Amino acid sequence: MEQKLLLMLDSRESLIAEICHYLIDGVGKRVRPLFVLLSYRACGGLDERLDDAIDAAIAIELIHSATLLHDDIIDGGTMRRGKPSVLARYGAAASLVAGDFLFCRAFELCGRFEERLVRIAAHACISLTEGEVMEGRMRHNAAARIEDYLEIITRKTASLFAAGARVAADLAGAAPATVGALEAVGLALGRSFQMMDDVLDVSGSEERIGKPIGSDLRTGVLSLPLVLGMHELPELRNFFANGGHGGAAAIESALRMVRHPSILERARAMAAEQAALARHHLGELAPSIYRDSLGLLLDEQRDRAT
Ligand code: FPP
Ligand code: MG
Repeated sequence: MEQKLLLMLDSRESLIAEICHYLIDGVGKRVRPLFVLLSYRACGGLDERLDDAIDAAIAIELIHSATLLHDDIIDGGTMRRGKPSVLARYGAAASLVAGDFLFCRAFELCGRFEERLVRIAAHACISLTEGEVMEGRMRHNAAARIEDYLEIITRKTASLFAAGARVAADLAGAAPATVGALEAVGLALGRSFQMMDDVLDVSGSEERIGKPIGSDLRTGVLSLPLVLGMHELPELRNFFANGGHGGAAAIESALRMVRHPSILERARAMAAEQAALARHHLGELAPSIYRDSLGLLLDEQRDRAT
């Protein structure tokens, strides 16, 4: 998977290849491709279609990478994966076309799949874009509710995990009930993953997460600690509603508020709840080392920030 992924980054235009290698080569956790490949095997996928499952795993990483390039343009993200973002190093125009390039590479790989599979991938991409736009619509909106937050993360993060699961199970020739179970695993894993990402954004360290602490607060993104804290703390609500004005001191004070143990505990508990839901759906699959490995993947990401 890794070898072929790197081949997909090459281009006749050396700037594109340089950017794609800079973003992907040797960096990134590869959680999504790992999830796709384990899902394929956990559904009984044989060697026969393993090459297709590998292509699906690569495609999901390419799509994810494309969204990161575009997301950093939208958020003005200066750090990514522990180094200056592509935006900071190459600028917005280059980030934009490199994102388009990666996105097209993904469909180059998987466009030959059955129409229903291409459709699943396309719908996930539509969800990603709608999630990103909904996130923008909810920026600095102090009336945002937890339901809005759940909708955003389901669209912007969980939809891709769910699509990966569906495609993997379908390629493995799984029965409809198994495909459905695995899709539910993907949805819950994706939500849990994004919830922990939000917790790490305020409680992690820059070295650990590879980007500055408090980015969500700075950019007015409706993160989980924020949506939970806003309902209890009027000062936090005002900070969010006022567009985070007040400079570094205001951000520091907002960070102190969202780092309150009771808020972080509730956020972690919600992530753990989603991980438990994913585990419950995993139970619908036949026992195998691959199912066990999916369980480990769930635990590992749930425990990232504890
Ligand atoms: C990162 O989340 C962003 C996403 C998961 C979705 C981004 C989607 C788009 C930019 C639109 C779709 C684009 C394509 C090519 C289909 P985050 O901002 O919470 O993560 P971060 O803190 O790491 O930036
Ligand atoms: Mg972002």
